[in-house]
Amino acid sequence: MQNNMMISHLLKAAVALCVAILVMLSACSSDSEDEVEPGCDLANVTYSETIVPIMETHCNTCHSGASPSAGIVTAEYEGLREVALDGRLVGSVNHDPEYSAMPQGQPQLDECPREQIAAWVDDGAQDN
Ligand code: HEC
Repeated sequence: MQNNMMISHLLKAAVALCVAILVMLSACSSDSEDEVEPGCDLANVTYSETIVPIMETHCNTCHSGASPSAGIVTAEYEGLREVALDGRLVGSVNHDPEYSAMPQGQPQLDECPREQIAAWVDDGAQDN
């Protein structure tokens, strides 16, 4: 009798431990789902440090110089600000069906740079 009770106590403790571990595991996985992307810095987005390098890598080959595509100059602040504030910048990089998908003829930008562009636009597309 004494033995049976000990076993049942042990079983209850083991079940409680398993439940606790499961709760912790699920808390961890839902935490990481909330994050945009691990290591993607959205807190310190600036035009000069964040946006300019993205434009140089993916956009300026077509959107600069004497005859920029669609008359849009992503290589200069004024030009980029214009398409940022009218929604075309975020719409085109996010492949929103109302806009032409950018960068044209190339794979869509990764989630992190797209989130950084959106963060910069949401913050007023400042020249910072
Ligand atoms: C290979 C050349 C090329 C590259 C690279 C390119 N674009 Fe474009 N872009 C175009 C052309 C051509 C158009 C005009 C025709 C069209 O809308 O499809 C255009 C149009 C646009 C428009 C207007 C879209 C609309 O729906 O009105 C925006 C905004 C834009 N580009 C931004 C970008 C950004 C930001 C990048 C980089 C992520 C980029 N482009 C990369 C060629 C390019």
